[in-house]
Amino acid sequence: MTYVKLPVLDESGYAIVDSYDQNADPREWENLVYVDWKSSGDTRFAPLASAYGDMECDGFWNHTPAKTDKDGVWVQENIDIAPILTGRAHEVGANVGRCRVIELQPNTYADAIYNLHRDDNNRLNPEGTGWIVRSFYNLTDNPDSVMILREDRDDPSTETRVPLPAGAQVVIDTQRLYHAVWHAGTEPRYCLITSYESGPELDTWISARNPRTRCESPHLDPQIILEGNESARNKRAAREAASAKSNSVDTTGMEVLSEA
Ligand SMILES: [Fe+2]
Repeated sequence: MTYVKLPVLDESGYAIVDSYDQNADPREWENLVYVDWKSSGDTRFAPLASAYGDMECDGFWNHTPAKTDKDGVWVQENIDIAPILTGRAHEVGANVGRCRVIELQPNTYADAIYNLHRDDNNRLNPEGTGWIVRSFYNLTDNPDSVMILREDRDDPSTETRVPLPAGAQVVIDTQRLYHAVWHAGTEPRYCLITSYESGPELDTWISARNPRTRCESPHLDPQIILEGNESARNKRAAREAASAKSNSVDTTGMEVLSEA
């Protein structure tokens, strides 16, 4: 028994669909209630759906009873503030798990490479059901920022950089691909992130929006890539040395997946 997965995500692990006309909408994200939640980078989150409807962002498996990243409960205070964003999350029609707006402060390419991680969306997800993937709807206009995707965290040749202008919409198998955003702006970036269960509803939604499963990355100076990789490697080594010193190192050698 395996999971139900979408063929459209087989090849590259992501699908970029037609952009949404973001500029026609009010900036609902500016009024949401945010909670501090350490993710990849300097971030805060505004939950629209959480494990049990509370204003918090913890992984669904960290609750009692624990559950997989499905059947999110809408957070009344925030969905009242952001009916359009909530409607967009509903529009797909698939089972929704975590749904939240992320606020990300500007960072560097090297920061983003250090932040590359895979998600743990499918913890507790029963085999035979739909694989959990995530949609990213960019809300602010960040044409010079990119979602960095890599099949192999340490191999820049596997990297794709997806530009993030307002309205950009990408569905990503975030448990397969390493991902992090390089946000080159001066103001925070906002993005609606939703966990969806793979199945006919999500497939139909993607298919109706001209999915592209390859993206030509904007040019980036090879020297910046080299230095970014080097910097990330050094920071990881320093972190591992520090945790070894404090005896808190994970000696199983297993990669720890992020909840972000
Ligand atoms: Fe993530």
